[in-house]
Amino acid sequence: MKVCEIKKDIYWVGAVDWNVRDFHGYSTYRGSTYNAFLIIDDKITLFDTVKKNLKGDLLHHIKTIIDPSKIDYIVVNHVEMDHTGSLPEVMELVKPEKLFCSPMGKKALLQHFHREDWPYEVVGPDHTLNLGRRSVQFIETRMLHWPDSMFSYVPEEKLLISSDGFGQHWATSERFDDEVDFSELMSHAVKYYANILLLFSPLVRKLLERVKELGIEIDMIAPDHGLIWRSHVKDILNAYGDWAHHKTRKKALVIYDTMWHSTETMAKAVADGVEQEGVSVKLMNLKFNHRSDVIAEALDTKALVFGSSTLNNGLLPRMAGLLSYMKGLKPRNKIGAAFGSYGWSGEAVKLMNVYMEEMKFDIIESGIRVKYVPTHDHLKECVEMGKRIGRAVNELGD
Ligand code: FEO
Repeated sequence: MKVCEIKKDIYWVGAVDWNVRDFHGYSTYRGSTYNAFLIIDDKITLFDTVKKNLKGDLLHHIKTIIDPSKIDYIVVNHVEMDHTGSLPEVMELVKPEKLFCSPMGKKALLQHFHREDWPYEVVGPDHTLNLGRRSVQFIETRMLHWPDSMFSYVPEEKLLISSDGFGQHWATSERFDDEVDFSELMSHAVKYYANILLLFSPLVRKLLERVKELGIEIDMIAPDHGLIWRSHVKDILNAYGDWAHHKTRKKALVIYDTMWHSTETMAKAVADGVEQEGVSVKLMNLKFNHRSDVIAEALDTKALVFGSSTLNNGLLPRMAGLLSYMKGLKPRNKIGAAFGSYGWSGEAVKLMNVYMEEMKFDIIESGIRVKYVPTHDHLKECVEMGKRIGRAVNELGD
């Protein structure tokens, strides 16, 4: 991909990863990008690098603008290796005067690369670095997405280089939000938030408040993944506000896995009941829907209904995997219920209820268990449960 001047003398020099399909358990079926930015000023500064296997792309991009050895400073906003994998080679080539990072960043860089000899310059929150015509304010963003994370804000350009914040895993030849389909862009932004940042929603809320308090003006947000926000800055900030406050819509999601289609038949009946109350409902069979897509869909959905057959006194493995993953992400403000068929022991419903309790769901009822294959009466019970869920969604409102 070609270098892109995102503002006068500020360049995107990152790499597009068309082939990545899994990002620590997140299905990146449309690839990703690792964005890095180069500011040409009195002090030439590179913000972040890229994954190790794509270092050639980064260096090629930098070389089309300047000789890499002319770079004075490197800023590491985040140590995770999608942004630092190529740092050792870049350091070797550039030999920068200073390598800026947060206090936790220095610790993590040492623990990753074991290089005591790099010219670390630790910057605390609100530290300002002068580049010449421009400056950089560092904003501490611990746990967004690692303890070392920070943002870099360039006030003269109203530019926020936001590391993992506001990112999307989406490989494109376009670099800006207004060059792609907005709803597709938001679908990737939702999925990214739900799978990477949801757990840290209290910190996102604090960060958004802090940005307000600081009164910083932003006309461009340049994340380290995906498209750069310039026409939809307010939209993505508002969306983050909603997601971080666990705002939900009047929707229901029936998530299930099934052994011999009995639980699937129950899932359809539950969905029928929800629909009869005028609530939008989706069915997601875990055999055909990746857990990271389920999490994305669940983000703003008020009611989550789980269905699993019982296998070996437990849950079907895909349901166990989903619930364990979901619990770690700490979704909040949900109502829920469970159902499932079984042959002799039938623990699945109880186990799904335990997960929902741990996630602080408002559990509508104890759930429906059916031995082997549901009768018409069983399915009527499922429809009634769906209707109760639909009514509960309507009563709770938005
Ligand atoms: Fe894109 Fe947390 O790394």
